[in-house]
Amino acid sequence: MAYSVRSQSVQHLKSRSNVSDLANKVVFCTGGAGTICSAQVRALVYLGADACIVGRNVQKTEDMAKDIATARKGAKVIGIGSIDVREVESLQKAVERCVKELGSLDFVMYAMVQTRLRPLEDTYMSEN
Ligand SMILES: NC(=O)c1ccc[n+]([C@@H]2O[C@H](COP(=O)([O-])OP(=O)(O)OC[C@H]3O[C@@H](n4cnc5c(N)ncnc54)[C@H](OP(=O)(O)O)[C@@H]3O)[C@@H](O)[C@H]2O)c1
Repeated sequence: MAYSVRSQSVQHLKSRSNVSDLANKVVFCTGGAGTICSAQVRALVYLGADACIVGRNVQKTEDMAKDIATARKGAKVIGIGSIDVREVESLQKAVERCVKELGSLDFVMYAMVQTRLRPLEDTYMSEN
């Protein structure tokens, strides 16, 4: 049943005329092994993109990458674990590996981002 729903979703996406050709495009996704972004990355891969997903858990991230790669014959999907979005250096290494192995990085998606709490008076507010 879950597969059926997922399959209908990507068919719907594919039928939309404003979906551009994703062949040779690479999507980089933080938290890409999670519930929401794994489905989103899977749809983009189905539509022609290659992908790099990152997360903290090595096994989970690598296993999901293999699973997402089944969405399209010939798809390249790499899963990089031990990456915490709160550590910029580890993210940079993942980006470098993505570009090295997949050839580029065209889109960034995120389920997880680093946020910093700070006093309201330190927050810039535009008058526009
Ligand atoms: N599910 C919903 O109904 C819903 C609704 C509204 C908003 N959201 C928000 O949407 C986002 C994704 O939701 P989801 O349900 O897909 O979550 P999820 O299934 O828990 O997936 C989150 C993913 O992010 C990774 N992650 C967590 N912390 C990380 C970190 N510090 N660095 C790198 N990766 C990290 C996790 O993998 P690792 O543990 O391996 O790092 C996991 O694969 C969340 O921010 C959630 O609050 C969800």
